[in-house]
Amino acid sequence: MEPALTEFGNQMSHLTGVRAIMKDIVETLQAAQGQEFINLSAGNPVIIPEVESLWRECTAELLAGPEYGEVVCRYGSSQGYQPLIEAVQQDFQRRYGLQLTPRHILITPGSQALYFFAANAFGGCTSSGARRRIVLPLSPDYTGYGGVCLVPGTLLAYQPFLDLDETRHRFKYRPDFSQLQFDEHTGCVLFSRPCNPTGNVLTDEEVTKIAALASPLQVPVFIDSAYGPPFPALNFTPMTPQFGGNLIHCLSLSKAGLPGERIGIAIGDPQIIQVLESFQTNLCIHSSRYGQAIAARAITSGALADLSVQVIRPHYQRKMAVVEATLDRCMPQDLPWFLHRGEGAIFAWLWLQDLPGGDWNLYQHLKQVGVIVVPGHSFFPGLEQEWSHTQECIRISLTATDEELETALTRLAQVVVQVYKQGAAANSAGHGG
Ligand SMILES: Cc1ncc(COP(=O)(O)O)c(C=O)c1O
Repeated sequence: MEPALTEFGNQMSHLTGVRAIMKDIVETLQAAQGQEFINLSAGNPVIIPEVESLWRECTAELLAGPEYGEVVCRYGSSQGYQPLIEAVQQDFQRRYGLQLTPRHILITPGSQALYFFAANAFGGCTSSGARRRIVLPLSPDYTGYGGVCLVPGTLLAYQPFLDLDETRHRFKYRPDFSQLQFDEHTGCVLFSRPCNPTGNVLTDEEVTKIAALASPLQVPVFIDSAYGPPFPALNFTPMTPQFGGNLIHCLSLSKAGLPGERIGIAIGDPQIIQVLESFQTNLCIHSSRYGQAIAARAITSGALADLSVQVIRPHYQRKMAVVEATLDRCMPQDLPWFLHRGEGAIFAWLWLQDLPGGDWNLYQHLKQVGVIVVPGHSFFPGLEQEWSHTQECIRISLTATDEELETALTRLAQVVVQVYKQGAAANSAGHGG
């Protein structure tokens, strides 16, 4: 049966961005007959024993106490489970001196859902027929933003400025404030900090500047802190979370070891929180209360924030060091490769300038030597202009073991050399002919 789809139906029934590539990866792994792959595509966080134990202990406490029936056998408020809201309120008050009331906080089933609510409450068509855009101030950014808008063409991403360190083969994306512009057509602003896929952390000054540009227009700015402090604290460079005014601080407990429980948290202006809460009530009522109850315990005791800094952050930071050391050792000095500065998150991002054949071709070559990465082109949702850079990057997950990273990146260096050589040969043959 082929039912007729609405415009929304059409938009939502297609896989976007990296999810479409994941399908190819799953098929590759399933079809592998005896070939072993090192999979550097994973977005799933590593199961870290200390973190798993924390969640196991919180679950055991919940199971043993009288709260269990209240949590699992009952519906609750759409805003979230009260003990979790209180835990967040008190933790953020103690940590950042914020004067929050429960009306500043919303719990959602994962932060992806939160961006879906925000994207469609503030982006799309207004009742007067005008179009309001969701602006991503710095592209590339999280591929999942590509799937959150019901109305096609709502995202608008800005090409960044490249801050290059040619001698060290490093670079960093920076927002290009000479281009970035908000106006009456801007519905909301959204970016990840630290960023998936690049590990970039927008500086405090850059965030302040973005917020100040959006503020006079009453445009909310959603800061996706899925990798930010206080949990999972996957920033390797100092950063100050920012709050207040038009800023909505958005957290996720997924990278703090609870991706299956689906917990996102928004902290911001009560009027904006109210809009998102109603959207949530209409869509799915509320997030699972079991996950919220164990999260409340881990936040109240301080154990989650402590483990984030003492265990989760050092784990991924060490992996980033392995990536840097291996690439510095294996990649030739004379090729134009640039690793994005590893400032946070669970990925490394490699730019291969003028890459012959593009990122998809490199992805295919790497599969042949048993290495899977994610081609970078799907991390530029909303970017409207042509930019060859979008076909010159790959994302490398830091979820592998040290040995896997070293082996895979050594193979990658060999493949990259071959690809540039073939490109140069094809070029000179072309010129000769
Ligand atoms: C930057 C970023 N934002 C949001 C999400 C969605 O996370 P969740 O819905 O599990 O909270 C992810 C997941 O990988 C992410 O990387």
